[in-house]
Amino acid sequence: TLTAAVVPAAGRGERLGPGAPKALRLLGGVPMLVHAVRALATARSVDLVVVAAPEDGVGDVVALLAEHNLLDASPGVAPSMVVSGGETRQDSVARALVSLPAEVDVVLVHDAARPLVPSTLIDAVSAAVRAGADAVVPGIPVADTIKAVDADGGVVATLDRGALRAIQTPQGFRRTVLTSAHAASDPDAPATDDAGLVEALGVEVLVVPGDEEAFKVTRPIDLVLAEAVLARRRA
Ligand code: CTP
Ligand code: MG
Repeated sequence: TLTAAVVPAAGRGERLGPGAPKALRLLGGVPMLVHAVRALATARSVDLVVVAAPEDGVGDVVALLAEHNLLDASPGVAPSMVVSGGETRQDSVARALVSLPAEVDVVLVHDAARPLVPSTLIDAVSAAVRAGADAVVPGIPVADTIKAVDADGGVVATLDRGALRAIQTPQGFRRTVLTSAHAASDPDAPATDDAGLVEALGVEVLVVPGDEEAFKVTRPIDLVLAEAVLARRRA
């Protein structure tokens, strides 16, 4: 029985602005993807990392991981492999899932765009699945008040903030649950996370405490924060 970490990294990063695919943008001089893969590959609970790279960038990502000694296994570092991603995040994850070895029974899915994820969070999600949960997601309390709006911007409802969680990755799954959820999903209405597909099957998803440092780099301001967090870690 093995735990694999799937890393969707095939997005363009449109909200971050023009430039290279988001996963290859630099953070502390190193592509975000390298930070994310290193965090997963060195986490105690992870045995294998599978990256879904931009379709035209598979060779480049293989070379990048090799350059950072993340392709082959070494003491304390799990090996990585690279597959071609797809048009949507869901499609990218699905392509990585079909490439997993038979021995894998727990799958973590972690966005390349969350480069500073602490190893403690990775291992906590793995442990919750190993302890018997079918699906586990990290969540943090929401700071802003969240309102539902209609197409014209009119407020439809103000949600009860106390009952909301902002959901992060890694999300952890029993492999069979995640593959069933992907098989049952509608490719024309892709989900923004994997737990959403599992929920659609009627399977219970457990929320465990997330970590502020597992935030997603989405907009330019997030890169400013990520650089600051990294600098603080290195100090
Ligand atoms: N992703 C992917 N394949 C896609 C789209 C997204 O593997 N076709 C990955 C991204 O690389 C990222 C993660 O899914 O690591 C989360 O997606 P998001 O933050 O939306 O990244 P992008 O899609 O790259 O950004 P944007 O939506 O701003 O274009
Ligand atoms: Mg996107």
